[in-house]
Amino acid sequence: MTIIDGKATATAIKQEIAAEVAARVAAGKKRPHLAAVLVGHDGGSETYVAHKVKACEECGFTSTLIRREADVTEAELLEIVAGLNADPEIDGYIVQLPLPRHIDEQAIIRAIDPSKDVDGFHPVNVGRMSLGLPCFLSATPAGIIELLRRYDIPTRGKHCVVLGRSNIVGKPVATLMMQKAEPGNATVTICHSSTPNIKEICLQADIIIAALGQPGFVTADMVKPGAVIIDVGTTRVPDATKKSGFRLSGDVDYANVAPICSAITPVPGGVGPMTICSLMRNTLLAAEKALY
Ligand code: GUN
Repeated sequence: MTIIDGKATATAIKQEIAAEVAARVAAGKKRPHLAAVLVGHDGGSETYVAHKVKACEECGFTSTLIRREADVTEAELLEIVAGLNADPEIDGYIVQLPLPRHIDEQAIIRAIDPSKDVDGFHPVNVGRMSLGLPCFLSATPAGIIELLRRYDIPTRGKHCVVLGRSNIVGKPVATLMMQKAEPGNATVTICHSSTPNIKEICLQADIIIAALGQPGFVTADMVKPGAVIIDVGTTRVPDATKKSGFRLSGDVDYANVAPICSAITPVPGGVGPMTICSLMRNTLLAAEKALY
């Protein structure tokens, strides 16, 4: 059984990106510049954005963090987005989700210039991904594909079961796994909260990608021996033994599933660190005007 080490893979990728940035700077080009917009004080969002800023430092990027309180208006956010679209200094930016309920998330995403949408959330980038055209791939699905590539995990003709249909992970990773590409070329089934026979479907899977946000959902009796398990879950569960008061829990019952599968991503240290690498890669592509 292989433990897929997302942390080590992410460290290697950040070093590759840092070397490319150093070569750019040596050639007289500017450092890639990523901006992040963070609204409110959601614990998960604070952590993610802090990791993104740190990754920028590791890759030799410039980063800008724009913070607003949770009572920011939609009009004010749209103004910030318009400013970032117009600013030639900024190569790419993200608006950290979720946003407060009074703000129409999709309206904000639609306002982002697709050529600066390094999260790959804008309908233009989602559409281009669906068509197999060059685009900013959303970060978590791209990170999963990169892990499969770097660990030489065969996907062609395999049955891949995706658990979850979110816009950020489930839908795009299903699209990429079925794409005429390597990794890709898989036969994909998507299960969600209205799927009645998830266990039976999972038992047929060569690859399970669990992105439900339900700690321990995938149990050993749902996994075919030798299957590959990609765990995207990162739910904070209370844990008095931790200084923070919580630990991250994946969607997979790791202790019991790991012994029967052929490869598995741990939580933490699996998919999570790869997500940020994809964002860095997209920002470098944006700085190079490689796509738009
Ligand atoms: N919230 C959870 N994941 C993400 C992500 O990849 N990008 C943004 N902007 N917000 C998120």
